[in-house]
Amino acid sequence: MTLRGRGPRRGKFLSELGIVKDGALLVRRGLIVGVGTRKYVESLPAARAAEKIDLGGRVVLPGFVDSHTHLVHAASRAEEYELKIGGASYEEIARKGGGILNSVKKLRAASTAALQARALRALAQFAANGTTTVEAKSGYGLELTSELRILALHRWLGQEQGIEIASTFLGAHVVPAEYRGKPGGAERYIRLLTEVLIPRIAEDGLAEFCDVFCERGAFSLEQSRRILQSGRQFGLAPRMHAEQLSRTGGAQLAVQLGAVSCDHLEQINRADIRVLGASNTVATLLPGCDFHLGLKKYAPARELIDAGAIVALATDYNPGTSPTVSMAMILSLACAQLRMTPAEAITAATINGAYALRRETKIGSLEVGKQADFAVFEVADYREIPYYFGVNACVMTVKRGRVIYARD
Ligand code: NIG
Ligand code: FE
Repeated sequence: MTLRGRGPRRGKFLSELGIVKDGALLVRRGLIVGVGTRKYVESLPAARAAEKIDLGGRVVLPGFVDSHTHLVHAASRAEEYELKIGGASYEEIARKGGGILNSVKKLRAASTAALQARALRALAQFAANGTTTVEAKSGYGLELTSELRILALHRWLGQEQGIEIASTFLGAHVVPAEYRGKPGGAERYIRLLTEVLIPRIAEDGLAEFCDVFCERGAFSLEQSRRILQSGRQFGLAPRMHAEQLSRTGGAQLAVQLGAVSCDHLEQINRADIRVLGASNTVATLLPGCDFHLGLKKYAPARELIDAGAIVALATDYNPGTSPTVSMAMILSLACAQLRMTPAEAITAATINGAYALRRETKIGSLEVGKQADFAVFEVADYREIPYYFGVNACVMTVKRGRVIYARD
């Protein structure tokens, strides 16, 4: 599956996978220099001296681009999972100091070495599941030193590891405990973000994007606007968590601000769908959250596709709402719950994810000039990738021409 052609994809173009039967790739210095049928690629003069890897009988596709993760955190929240199953809602748990604040407490107390080891383990699992690029958000530090520690780790991981990392500053995840319930506390925290953290992070080049959790109990529409505008002023492109548990108007604000993506979108209405459909802001859907939280209401993917929106899919890997690294599982949920076809889901997880990270000219499809980022699945037909669930059929993952995962 080459996914060749112009990105991003909307409407019926989400279904075009650019399948080549008995296909081949010629890779040189990490880039694709030839792609097409095996016969054609083998006839290229540059192919003569090339080392050959035979992947016959398997399916090769662009490495998944996971455009929404909370990669760096200290521990799981399995104890809350059990409470949720017992009937407690995500918001009730958060109000009692659980939720994001629980993860903040754990991260602040964790050593950098421990955070690093946990993130490395997760990245190895991402690679083993066919992912070659992940976006990573800070947001479990919520104070200067801890946020800088996370962002510096993003940079280190991106340099050390096979997987490419796009770094996002999410200081506006929630108002931290030490500012809560105090008069003017939220305001003081927002000023810390806009006057201290954002300028510092931009100056040190530690993030490309600025994100806000626009939600009841997190940040209001007006607060989100201020924070994202401040980020934009310092060169951090806006993206947003919007309309997950309640409708706030966040999606339309994201479009107004020219955000690269707005993510979640379970609660959007018809007007929001129209606005998103006419925009270049990617509608990133995260069905892993609804699945893990046991919620029945998934985002209206079909309506978004019909309205012409640029739909992407991501894991939202995080300890509170979506503890998975598996894009194949997200594809399964996209098919069964969002009613996307396997082809649409694969496009949303590759080239449209790349567009959501402003990397669509480098990754997300297998075309000459792009990075040789691809995954190999032990399946007979691409539809079997979402069809089988709860198993990992990825047998090899290659990033910039280098094998970063191979099943013995
Ligand atoms: O994308 N919604 C905000 N952030 C995460 C959840 C974070 C957490 O619960 O730790 C999300 O769902
Ligand atoms: Fe998230």
